[in-house]
Amino acid sequence: MENKKSILCIGAGYVGGPTMAMIAAKCPDYTVTVADINADRIARWNSDSLPIYEPGLYDVVKQARGRNLFFTTDVEQGIRNAYLIFVSVNTPTKTFGAGAGKAADLQYWEKCARLIAETADSTKIVVEKSTLPVRAAEAIHRILQSNPRGIEFHVLSNPEFLAEGTAIRDLENPDRVLIGSMTVPDSHEAMQTLVDLYAHWVPRERILTTNVWSSEMSKLVSNAMLAQRISSINSISALCERTGADVSEVSRAVSMDSRIGSKFLRPGVGFGGSCFKKDILNLVYLCEQYNLDAVAKYWEQVVLMNDYQERRFAERIVKAMFNTLSGKRIALFGFAFKADTGDTRESPAIYISRMLIEEHAKLAIHDPQALPNARLDMKGYEDCIEYCEDPYEAARGAHAIAIITDWHAFTELDYQRLYDSMEKPAFLFDGRNILDHRKLFEIGFEVYPLGKAKLSHMVHSR
Ligand code: UDX
Ligand code: UDX
Repeated sequence: MENKKSILCIGAGYVGGPTMAMIAAKCPDYTVTVADINADRIARWNSDSLPIYEPGLYDVVKQARGRNLFFTTDVEQGIRNAYLIFVSVNTPTKTFGAGAGKAADLQYWEKCARLIAETADSTKIVVEKSTLPVRAAEAIHRILQSNPRGIEFHVLSNPEFLAEGTAIRDLENPDRVLIGSMTVPDSHEAMQTLVDLYAHWVPRERILTTNVWSSEMSKLVSNAMLAQRISSINSISALCERTGADVSEVSRAVSMDSRIGSKFLRPGVGFGGSCFKKDILNLVYLCEQYNLDAVAKYWEQVVLMNDYQERRFAERIVKAMFNTLSGKRIALFGFAFKADTGDTRESPAIYISRMLIEEHAKLAIHDPQALPNARLDMKGYEDCIEYCEDPYEAARGAHAIAIITDWHAFTELDYQRLYDSMEKPAFLFDGRNILDHRKLFEIGFEVYPLGKAKLSHMVHSR
């Protein structure tokens, strides 16, 4: 029997799992079920070893699991029981056919919509949690309404803005919750149902209601604009390296202008993660579909600049190390796409590793959380890579250390000890500018920060 306070989420991934755990924790009067076709993932959500690493997540899950939070593989039963159905399945970039390389692959979403249409026996509110292209709600609504039993469905868009590593904080205290609804009869009531759910813990003025297309578009544009800031500062880091300016100083000076602000202006090896590139390409594809080529090219440049930054970092390593990496051991510190996560989707580490291996380097990869994913990403390269739980083991006998991820733990290592165990000259490439470069130089390292002059002991070095 469907109950108005029964929620289902299809997709127990990085978004579905934490989001539903937070809803269950904050809304004890609701029953929240998370369903996924991946039985292994569900087993882990039901265990003490959750399938994703996210600070604070386990405590939230523990608070609600077994009380009003359940994880299951029985999607159909979940559909029958629920009134509100969130869909949070993956929407990767299409790899085939029309729009390959840019458009979102909606096959999983469509499969879910069809399953809901076939299984439901009463009115449901279906909520887009995955990021979808603009106007997807319309297509989904059409699929749902085509059910032969005349059951009514409402489709809402409720994009997720959490960032990995800070997901619990973001969910608990969001800048805004966005809810988009279609202009069909009764959609106001559906929207109010979702507003009431979030109002359990989010101040009403931060719950923003819009039309469904604006909501879908806002998600793409938020990610595009965040990524654009990173590409902007990364482009300037290249210029700083040539001119003698220091990108950290430039970033700080620029960001003290309150109109610009300080966030997302940290230069680095490039942005990664499952969303930025995919969502921008999605936006680019959308513009192309509407013959807005100038707009498409403008946004595509954000991704091209990111590719450039990853390539530039690898090329700088080769150039600094006398134009040859053949047989040299390089310790990569970090493989996750950012700190505090084990996620490696679209991590710059993948591309940088491949480029270094093409130069015949031997890699020693260390990451506090991401080694299992790194092994999967680098399958086929086993001969050239050693995976190290211990950073000191990774650096032993290495010619260089390259900081790829901004894990705080890397700032607390004993760099004298690392230096002593390395081949000389010992290079250090800080792709995130998180270390004390002057101190490293004094230890004896050849130091290559990002977007600023190198610190070198070599005479005549330029
Ligand atoms: C993210 C973003 O949230 C989303 O907006 C984007 O569109 C895709 O990537 P995320 O939670 O990180 O989603 O994805 P992922 O961790 O891959 O989880 C998706 C889950 O859906 C997987 O566990 C997968 O098994 C499940 N799934 C997929 C189903 O249960 N049924 C399907 O038919 C397909
Ligand atoms: C992003 C969005 O922030 C979030 O709102 C959306 O829901 C999903 O996509 P996420 O990808 O998890 O979240 O992490 P984010 O903190 O945005 O970092 C993305 C990438 O940008 C990382 O590789 C990070 O290292 C990089 N980054 C971020 C920089 O290089 N410089 C910065 O200043 C900030």
